Amino acid sequence: MYSTLLTSLENGILTITINRPDKLNALNKDVFNDLETVMNEVYQKAEIKSAIITGSGSKAFVAGADIAEFSSFNKEQAVALSKRGQDVFFKIENSPKPVIAAVNGFALGGGCELAMSCHFRICSDNAKFGQPEVNLGLIPGYGGTQRLTHLIGKGKSMELQMTAQIIDANEALVLKLVNHVTTQENLLVKAKAILEVIHTKAPIAISKIIDCINTAVVSDSAYTNGKSGFEKEADAFGDCFNTADMKEGTTAFLEKRKANFSGK
Ligand code: COA
Repeated sequence: MYSTLLTSLENGILTITINRPDKLNALNKDVFNDLETVMNEVYQKAEIKSAIITGSGSKAFVAGADIAEFSSFNKEQAVALSKRGQDVFFKIENSPKPVIAAVNGFALGGGCELAMSCHFRICSDNAKFGQPEVNLGLIPGYGGTQRLTHLIGKGKSMELQMTAQIIDANEALVLKLVNHVTTQENLLVKAKAILEVIHTKAPIAISKIIDCINTAVVSDSAYTNGKSGFEKEADAFGDCFNTADMKEGTTAFLEKRKANFSGK
């Protein structure tokens, strides 16, 4: 049914698996289209009570936005890409039914941003998190500047995003980026066990908790009309596409060599 996702429904839990293992499940246009459609299913179908988002294979949750897809974009295309990603992730974040990220490996760039748009995260002990966009002469464009700051605080968010440091599962737990760390074998078992507890509670109350907590952590009313922090991010993401360093960073990645930044 989906070209980039696998789905399975069991006990009211829809497990959504991003399925581009040869590209470490990188997010391209098709993945965004499929994620939007599957979230419509989650919103609309009574038989779906909650969802888990995970990645296929044992190595990656999602290794980021698909660098090959956007490396030749101009500013306008980049702003549109950022807004598209932000909108799909808003749809996940504002789901009236619980959505948990089960992070089974690399959650870098757009992958970390996808996990952060879920209501909470659990991960396997091999998981790695980071916003390494500055290595590409870029910034996060799918909400990372906003959500990582909300989740782990300004100082640590600044440090991680400026250094492009990749952190492991235990550090993610200490920073409260994830709620639980488990083995890879137990990851979906643990996610399902949590959701089964939530399924015993009142669904309308659960959806109101989601709505209220989302409102509490976002002071700039990103959940209504004034997406100020997110709009600024999309514009700044687009600005990066007018720089030589972004061309150098993405070209170097695709050519499998180290980037040589000029500051231009
Ligand atoms: N976009 C597009 N392709 C990606 C990708 C991305 N974000 N991340 C990985 N891939 C592709 C690689 O190009 C490679 O494709 P190929 O086999 O056709 O050459 C394949 O996935 C496997 O990745 P590879 O880099 O060979 O695996 P690795 O184990 O050596 O390294 C990572 C794993 C995650 C460290 C490395 O892939 C990486 O740094 N990815 C980019 C992370 C990033 O910067 N994300 C933010 C993007 S905005």
